[in-house]
Amino acid sequence: MAFQKLSNFNKLLWLLLKFEFMIPSHALYVHWPFCISKCPYCDFNSHVRSAIDETLWERCLLQELVYTAQTVNKGPLTSVFFGGGTPSLMPPSLVHALLDKAKSLFGFVPDIEITLEANPGTYDESRFKDFAQAGINRLSLGVQSFNDKSLKFLGRIHNSIEAHKALTGAKKLFPRVSFDLIYALPNQSLSSWKAELAQALDYDPSHLSLYQLTFEEGTPFTHRRDTGQLHPMADEEALSLYLETQTIMDAQGLPRYEISNHAKPGFESAHNLTYWNYGVYSGIGPGAHGRCLIQDQKMATRCLKNPEKWTLQVLDRGHGWEDSQPIESLTRFEEAIMMGLRLSKGIPWSQMAALSETLTTALRNSTHFTTLMTEGFLNSEEDYFWLTPKGLLTQSACVSYLLNDLT
Ligand SMILES: C[S@@+](CC[C@H](N)C(=O)[O-])C[C@H]1O[C@@H](n2cnc3c(N)ncnc32)[C@H](O)[C@@H]1O
Ligand code: SF4
Repeated sequence: MAFQKLSNFNKLLWLLLKFEFMIPSHALYVHWPFCISKCPYCDFNSHVRSAIDETLWERCLLQELVYTAQTVNKGPLTSVFFGGGTPSLMPPSLVHALLDKAKSLFGFVPDIEITLEANPGTYDESRFKDFAQAGINRLSLGVQSFNDKSLKFLGRIHNSIEAHKALTGAKKLFPRVSFDLIYALPNQSLSSWKAELAQALDYDPSHLSLYQLTFEEGTPFTHRRDTGQLHPMADEEALSLYLETQTIMDAQGLPRYEISNHAKPGFESAHNLTYWNYGVYSGIGPGAHGRCLIQDQKMATRCLKNPEKWTLQVLDRGHGWEDSQPIESLTRFEEAIMMGLRLSKGIPWSQMAALSETLTTALRNSTHFTTLMTEGFLNSEEDYFWLTPKGLLTQSACVSYLLNDLT
């Protein structure tokens, strides 16, 4: 919201300064690990509890935020992301307190993006108004489907009427709204998916996340698949849904900028771009990860996953970090490739060279790089290299193949 309050002259000045000095991104992720119920496809660090001690959680999250600010390199935050679990279950006063504290500890850039993930089943106009007043300027709604049968199959707590109500309400309250849909469900026809996509596009979204249903280890869906109770969509069918989706989204001016994410130009998620550009971010809350700078060394940090163990450690030691390790040069290089090759525009060669000139030369000259180029999975020009649409379809296999040749 801070950016909206600036005069047009100051906004222009800020954008010029940002461009001129390439202000580095610095993101903060806050994990809220609780949900009303567990969806059968989900392997996120989310838990169902009959009661939550909100005072304790406020104390612990604020404490870990202070510890993080004391530990990592300073610099204003470019984005904050409340993810989960279901952060729309957080008390708005806690979101407010965390944002106030983060601003006083790190500072905020004027056009900071502050996102909260929300479940449509938790929509309540007055609570969501409070989130907007607390400083949330981007809401990401887990709509998943506009079809009641699909919502039931996905084990969601909301129905299609509630999805529409939450979307309509959110659009009035937040300057930016994104929402998630899941497709390639068993037996889903192309026409029914297209009908859902049309309903989504009726909202004139500036950002949409479209995920193909994946079967994650340890989830009830995977168990049902493995025991023959559930039959995933065949790969060729899923592929045709995917290709049709790209055509529709391109025609609507919402091209894919990442494997599953579409945006009008300029409305990409700044926070997620920090991950994909292998920028600097800190994570607080159970299971949160960070790639932050500590005394100018890039470190991988990880918080304890279990919510109760995390609170106990925060009370005891002032933070819930389970691990914090310097990231060695080869790992930094590999991680940057893994993240950056998710983006349609790919990775600037200069970014890789800044990480390691030697490895960049090795990558450019590797047999696997040439093979992927010849086979039409990869493209490279003077400034950038990127996976083609064919390569993005098999992104993780392409990345593994590329990295195999480096080690
Ligand atoms: C943390 S959730 C979003 C907020 C909230 N928890 C909710 O579900 O409404 C992140 C998103 O990941 C997607 N997702 C999670 N598990 C998935 C799976 N197995 N297959 C496809 N998409 C999945 C869903 O679209 C979900 O909205
Ligand atoms: S509400 Fe979201 S985070 Fe919670 S279980 Fe469902 S998909 Fe996972």
